[in-house]
Amino acid sequence: MEQVKLLPKTCLCCTPDITAQGLGNLPVTVGNLTLDPPVFLAPLAGITDLPFRKAVLRFGAGLVVSEMVASQEMVQAKPSTRARAELGFGNDRTSVQIAGREAYWMAECAKLVADRGARIVDINMGCPAKKVTTGYSGSALMKDPDHALTLIDAVVGAVEVPVTLKMRLGWDDDCLNAADIAKRAEEAGVQMITIHGRTRCQFYKGAADWGAISAVKAAVNIPVIANGDITDSHSAIQALKLSKSDGVMVGRGAQGQPWVLAQIAAEVSGKTYTRVPQGSDLADVILTHYEDMIRFYGPELGVRNARKHLTWYLELLEGGMELRNLIIRERDANVVMRHLIDGLKNCGPLIEAAA
Ligand SMILES: Cc1cc2nc3c(=O)[nH]c(=O)nc-3n(C[C@H](O)[C@H](O)[C@H](O)COP(=O)(O)O)c2cc1C
Repeated sequence: MEQVKLLPKTCLCCTPDITAQGLGNLPVTVGNLTLDPPVFLAPLAGITDLPFRKAVLRFGAGLVVSEMVASQEMVQAKPSTRARAELGFGNDRTSVQIAGREAYWMAECAKLVADRGARIVDINMGCPAKKVTTGYSGSALMKDPDHALTLIDAVVGAVEVPVTLKMRLGWDDDCLNAADIAKRAEEAGVQMITIHGRTRCQFYKGAADWGAISAVKAAVNIPVIANGDITDSHSAIQALKLSKSDGVMVGRGAQGQPWVLAQIAAEVSGKTYTRVPQGSDLADVILTHYEDMIRFYGPELGVRNARKHLTWYLELLEGGMELRNLIIRERDANVVMRHLIDGLKNCGPLIEAAA
């Protein structure tokens, strides 16, 4: 996975059109849900699990999206397996994302998750992974808009809750059809569209093209959310300005800093964000997230899954890498906890805040 590149920081006063009116066209409404602030957490398979989404929601976000659910597998899973899929049902701020290539399974899965309490169903048409696209799911659907529309029709027809769509600019530079698909999706009843400003064939290379998202915004009357390489208020302002979209979605930029969505929302509206945790507050954030992971996955899997999150937190802290190296191979969840409690006391402030 490519590292997020921090874009050159722009001065807030250079973008009066955004700062004066606040974030996009605040707030974003989808069905009877008001998604405020319109700064959303992107679905990241293997990362934005329930404990991480909880960590983000503690600080505030307009919406968080579950990790993608494979539609056919979910419908055919044993009830006990399904029960373990902690998708955040019943939480007004959680959308459940489904993926697949067959209208029947997509509709059945949408019904299942909506019956279990999903407030929004999101259709994945952006995943570039080969194992997904070779099955003609995810972004491969952008190569066959007629087929994609049969899935969208089926899902919209299957549920009462709002259906949203997440896609890329197109399959490749010769197939930039996001605006056409968005228009057809809106006619089919989709209520919000998120665009990752890259094509599928770019995977995560190069920079997201926020300007290209404006063609989608111009084509539809439903909210459009810009996504890709948004990591702070400076990049969020640029993305909003160039895409003319109604909000932003942040993925990799939230790793190791679950407060960043709330910080973006405040700063883009011209406010100073005062809740960036430091010292013992930051230790509380990390320890609570770690405890949630151990509880959620159990000690064995929890300790393994927590490693990447702990690395992301600690690499942002002065002296954090020493602590990270101490815990990274440790298998005992309690030993890791003890090292964290002791070690976090000796770490310096967040590197960016200290700069
Ligand atoms: C590890 C990883 C997992 C992802 N999983 C999903 C997914 O399940 N569903 C989806 O629509 N997009 C997925 N994406 C794409 C992100 O939601 C997002 O569109 C992309 O990372 C660009 O945003 P960012 O630069 O803010 O991270 C994934 C991306 C990464 C790096």
